[in-house]
Parts: sequence; C-alpha cells; structure tokens
Amino acid sequence: MKWYEDDSLWSDFAPTMFSAARGEEVAGIVADSPLLDFPPGSRVLDLCCGPGLFLVPLARRGYTVTGVDLSAVMLERARTACATAGADVRLIRADMLEYAEPGSFDIVLNVFTSFGYFDDPDDNLRVLRNARESLAPGGRLLVDVMGKEVLAGWIGRPQAVDLPDGSYVVQRDTVLDSWRRLRTDWTLVRGSTARTASLTSHLYSAAELHDLFVAAGFTGIECFGGFDGSGYDQRSRRLIVRGTRK
Ligand SMILES: C[S@@+](CC[C@H](N)C(=O)[O-])C[C@H]1O[C@@H](n2cnc3c(N)ncnc32)[C@H](O)[C@@H]1O
Repeated sequence: MKWYEDDSLWSDFAPTMFSAARGEEVAGIVADSPLLDFPPGSRVLDLCCGPGLFLVPLARRGYTVTGVDLSAVMLERARTACATAGADVRLIRADMLEYAEPGSFDIVLNVFTSFGYFDDPDDNLRVLRNARESLAPGGRLLVDVMGKEVLAGWIGRPQAVDLPDGSYVVQRDTVLDSWRRLRTDWTLVRGSTARTASLTSHLYSAAELHDLFVAAGFTGIECFGGFDGSGYDQRSRRLIVRGTRK
C-alpha cells in the first residue's frame, strides 16, 4: 500500500491536520480570499477534499461544490460535515491520478499540500492534466502547497504540536534526492503509546510548479504567497499556483 492510501494515517493524524481551529481559519479564508472569489453558482471541485474543511464554506459562498477524495473515512467525515451544515455538496470517491470529468468545472482547487504524492514525476503531471481536462474553457486550477523556498526557511527546527486531549505530535522532515522530495515522519504520542507515519512527496519551487502547469497545458500562470493574493516572496508561508485552461 502507498502511504497516501492508508486511511488510518489520515484519521489518526486528523486532530493535527483538520483541527477545529484550522476549520475556523479555513472558513475565514474562503469568506475573504480574493483567490476564491468566483461568480455565484460557479462549479467548484475540491480535489482531495479530506474531511471537507473547504466544502461547507465554499457552498456557503454560493458555489456549486463537488469534493473528491480517495479515503472512504475522510469522505464519510465530509458527508457528515456537509449534512450537519445543510450544505448540498456532491462527494465522489476517486483517485486523483485517474479522476477527470471533462469540461465539468469552472474551478479546480487542490489545497493544503495535497499534490506531489506520486513517486513518478509524470504521475503528478498527469494529475494537473486531469484537472485541466475537468475544467471548462476559461476555467482555473489553483494548487496550494508548501513551496520549497518556504520550507527551506524553517526546515530543521523541531516541530511539536500539543493536542487538546493531552497527546502530541512530533514532526521530523528529511530532504531527499537533492531537494526533489521530502520525507515527513510523524509520531503521535498518546499516553504510553506512540504511532508513527511517514509521508514522502515531491517538493516544488515556484518556478518548478509553474513549469509543470505549462507542461500540463495551462496559460496565464501566476504564483501567490497566500490566499490573501500576496506575491510569492521571502515573507510567504505557502505557495499557491494558479493557471487557466484556454
Ligand atoms: C493533506 S490532506 C488535505 C485535505 C484537504 N484538502 C484539506 O485542506 O484539509 C490530503 C487529502 O488527500 C487525499 N488523498 C491522498 N491521496 C489521494 C489520491 N491519490 N486521490 C485522491 N485523494 C487523495 C487524502 O485522503 C487526504 O484527505
């Protein structure tokens, strides 16, 4: 099994990745972000939607929302979140490597470092090509990752996150293949038990992800340093790349 196919990884580490605090932050981002300001009724695909932190606020902003994820556990959480909020969202279980719905969306979002998971670089390119195929002409893809330049600014510092139930997660990052890939090792310590997981994904600089968008056939490609629409520079904490399907 590939690391990203492990349902228990996403659910065991959900308290750090999908915390209530992050949910509130995402709701604010979706309400205010100029990068997420689309015409009412826009058809938005959240590719790798996880438990749906973006889905409900996107639906509340007046968009027609679809969520795709490989994990049955994450999709079930998304289904519950949408039902609780009364948000009408279509949910599909699919692998981003295969999933395409030709011409069906105005916007495709892939956020919170849900890209670069495949060992073969061509497979990551294929995900962008699938997204392009799923877009209507003039539609846009937006990918949000931890840029290589951003990571270089803090990698090496110990990362530990305390969770409300008294458990904590320690994160260690290891650069592989001359900065082409990153391995992240997580250890969740709860009482006297420890659960570890390793994730290995491709790392992209702004120029590299830009070039991948070009290779996938996108035009009008821009790089941002956050959902506030700021430029990608030395102050940025994220790398967001946006491109248009002609
Ligand atoms: C880091 S989480 C981000 C989730 C969500 N975008 C968010 O902002 O909270 C990555 C998600 O990608 C999903 N995923 C991993 N590999 C996938 C694949 N090959 N196809 C579709 N989804 C995948 C995981 O199940 C997980 O929900």
